Amino acid sequence: MAIDDRFIDELSARCDIVDIVSRYVALKKSGNNYFGLCPFHNEKTASFSVAPDKQIFHCFGCGAGGGPIRFIMNIEGLDFPDAVRFLARQYNMEVPETGENPRHRQERKRVLAALKDAARFFYAQLHGPAGTQALRYFQQRRLSRRTMGNFGLGYAPDSFHALLDAMTAQGYTKEELAAAGLIARSQNGTYYDKFRNRVMFPIIDVRGDVIGFGGRVMDDSKPKYLNSPETMVFNKRRNLFAMNLAKKTRSEYFLLAEGYMDVIALHQAGFDSAVASLGTALTDEQARLLTRYTKTVIVCYDADTAGQTASQRAIDILKKAGLRVKILRIPGAKDPDEFIKAKGAEAFRKLIERSDNDIRYRIESARDKYDFTEDDQRILFLREAAGIIAALENPVERDVYTASTAKLAGVTQAAFQQEVKNAQTRLQYQQKQQYHRQVRAPAQAAQPKERTIHYDNMRSARAEEGLLALLFSDASLLPDMREKVRPEDFSSPVLGKIYGHAIALFDSGRGITVSALEPVLQPEETELLVAALGTEISADRRQKAMEDYIDIIAEQKAARDIPGQDGEDPLLRKAQLQRKTKRFDGTEG
Ligand code: UTP
Ligand code: MN
Repeated sequence: MAIDDRFIDELSARCDIVDIVSRYVALKKSGNNYFGLCPFHNEKTASFSVAPDKQIFHCFGCGAGGGPIRFIMNIEGLDFPDAVRFLARQYNMEVPETGENPRHRQERKRVLAALKDAARFFYAQLHGPAGTQALRYFQQRRLSRRTMGNFGLGYAPDSFHALLDAMTAQGYTKEELAAAGLIARSQNGTYYDKFRNRVMFPIIDVRGDVIGFGGRVMDDSKPKYLNSPETMVFNKRRNLFAMNLAKKTRSEYFLLAEGYMDVIALHQAGFDSAVASLGTALTDEQARLLTRYTKTVIVCYDADTAGQTASQRAIDILKKAGLRVKILRIPGAKDPDEFIKAKGAEAFRKLIERSDNDIRYRIESARDKYDFTEDDQRILFLREAAGIIAALENPVERDVYTASTAKLAGVTQAAFQQEVKNAQTRLQYQQKQQYHRQVRAPAQAAQPKERTIHYDNMRSARAEEGLLALLFSDASLLPDMREKVRPEDFSSPVLGKIYGHAIALFDSGRGITVSALEPVLQPEETELLVAALGTEISADRRQKAMEDYIDIIAEQKAARDIPGQDGEDPLLRKAQLQRKTKRFDGTEG
């Protein structure tokens, strides 16, 4: 669903980045900017900054950065259109949706409203006089009031029409309630509540909409769980239970469990990244959803054979989606819920630590790259493994992996230990260097943080970043700038692309802002741009700075264009460029 550019501009104009970020991060003002602890990585000193003049945020520590929409995408785990809708809602603006038929949209809206109101109804029932037994059931399962609240748990009373009556009184039609999957139609044409005398688990998607329910009996009758049918808003293949909560985690990994109660028990025990597939086998769509929030998934399915078979299938699906997968075996209990109840959260944390772990995984992946029958290949492997081990903070862990890796490659432990020590020294040196660079000039750390973008020509790239920084603080420089330097002259394709987009924005009468570019840039490209914008140049020096940057770009371009290859003489090219700089009549040189 495309969202109109003009709307993005309007929304961006209405939004205030400081206001938006402050809802999640405690900010302190310093000079023109604000600083705080980065919500996207763990840190103790503030390297997260917000610049109200440019309406951007940027973390010097992890490289995250962008405008208000990017911030919401990152922190709420939403895709671009949903982040726009999220912000629009906060600013009371109506998103002009294209492509969807208005009647369909209206129906969808009513169904979502009905589900939300049904969740409120079930919640009120749980805490009302009819809910005594249900409340006791949850308490017996050791859920705290707070947990019940966080998950919006409820109770569907023992009646065929309690919900139906309450909802029709609120103005919902039977058709709407049936479309929401809340009521069903009997043989003789009457409608009745689908969920009766069950404790209720609302299923909430990443946007925060209630899209369905699971309802459990409180005894041994069947079916144990009843789930909402697929509806126009509930697609089981695409959603995971508790994703609305888990998406906010700071944990590096997600936990994938089988059941509602496992997830709830995990969250209550502090594992706030737990989710479950909804009573079915994991799907490719669910795996893809996970990739939006994490790189690692720890599968903690039930200990029985059915659970273990399901694990195997889940592993394949997760791996196919590009996720790193670890498996948790739960000794002496049926599922995570029972394990935590019996042995406690700390014991579960130990299980996670001992789960088939990341370092071993990385060392083993490294091993697969080398042919151990060749000595020099083994040496290369040991070097790579030493780098992985050196980065471990815990010395005991370092020893453990040093020993096992030496054994793996058939060398003495003493020899490999030396290799690890050398790697540690190199690493410390690098960290020191990086620290100094950040402190001296945060925007000028050598290569961009995001490793997928690499500068081939550092000198030119610095000048290109400088030009963009000028342009984003003063768009009136553009007419002159574009006369003298074209996007193709940039050494960095990404920076050149951004420059090209800036020109297009200008030509269509829009402001040159990070927000306006976010729809067309990849996250790592936005981060690169935001990092480049850190350089402030006072108004009186801008013209001169621009000319210096352009000279550097031209000089570097000339050096790259080897004559004979593309028929262009570098000296000639430079002379042409210089001639071009003299023309201000608006014609091409
Ligand atoms: P389990 O039978 O392992 O249930 O089903 P559980 O999660 O341990 O539940 P408790 O602890 O007895 O309350 C795992 C999941 O499979 C789905 C549910 O999502 C459940 O959480 N399921 C199970 C159903 O959808 N219907 C059923 O009848 C049973
Ligand atoms: Mn269980």
